[in-house]
Amino acid sequence: ARKIIIDTDPGQDDAAAIMLALGSPEEIEVLGITAVAGNVPLTLTARNARIVCELCNRTDVKIFAGAERPVARPLVTAEHVHGKTGLDGPALDEPTMPLQEQHAVDFIVETLRAEAPGAVTLCTLGPLTNIALALTKAPEIAPSVRELVMMGGGFFEGGNITPAAEFNIYVDPEAAEIVFRSGIPIVMMPLDVTHRVLTRKTRVEKIRAIGSPAAVALAEMLEFFERFDIEKYGTDGGPLHDPTVIAYILRPELFTGRDCNVEIETASPLTTGMTVVDWWQVTGRAHNAKVMRHIDDEGFFELLAERLARI
Ligand code: BDR
Ligand code: CA
Repeated sequence: ARKIIIDTDPGQDDAAAIMLALGSPEEIEVLGITAVAGNVPLTLTARNARIVCELCNRTDVKIFAGAERPVARPLVTAEHVHGKTGLDGPALDEPTMPLQEQHAVDFIVETLRAEAPGAVTLCTLGPLTNIALALTKAPEIAPSVRELVMMGGGFFEGGNITPAAEFNIYVDPEAAEIVFRSGIPIVMMPLDVTHRVLTRKTRVEKIRAIGSPAAVALAEMLEFFERFDIEKYGTDGGPLHDPTVIAYILRPELFTGRDCNVEIETASPLTTGMTVVDWWQVTGRAHNAKVMRHIDDEGFFELLAERLARI
């Protein structure tokens, strides 16, 4: 199985991603889950990650709390989408499984030092603060990372928190810049992909019908989560951003994209957090990311339902 660390700020769509990973034990070994501040503050994201693991009966998963705030800015959160707790929707018990004592950044550094070079894949579902701090603390770990698959950014699709920026990159653009300049092979799932992955009614009902505590709770989470987009944009559901990262590990053939240069805007007040993707290769700048553009969304939802049923 492929060894991954999931860095996350749950978030209902993060919860779906964690469930997809935990439902795929043959292909994926989750070495740890590292929580970061993003959708909601760190105390809540660390709590929510534990709730999701408990829903999946996986109290053995190691969960670490990381950065409370971005590397150079105050935290911006997204309760307007995810609700006050980040996992609004179902009635959820407070978690009882432990939070590890070690700091998430130390766990990331230690794991990459201990594992064979090329063994560990980083799956990032939130702002890139924890990863940037690990790379700053121990730059020598970069060449050991097999791949970093991230949900973040947007190019033809524009932004979702400002006209130019996607939330995860906007919250910590300095961290994103460190990651994109690290030399780690990056796969980027931008809004151009994730806005095609909509939680249509039939899809949510299919998840609920699985009937397990995890699946039922996820269906309730998604109903809460999707109302933001449905009410504001009249879409056929909410965009299930983060599980595309895990789906890529399981089924890369569901996606198409190209190698590009990506630079992060950190200075302009108007476009801070913008991912400037050289899709048409108009600069000579070196490629630093595989940028995805299309997804087989039917195939994605089949995969998600199949794996949720295994939990
Ligand atoms: C990203 O921001 C968060 O609100 C979601 O969990 C996702 O990771 C989408 O822009
Ligand atoms: Ca997220």
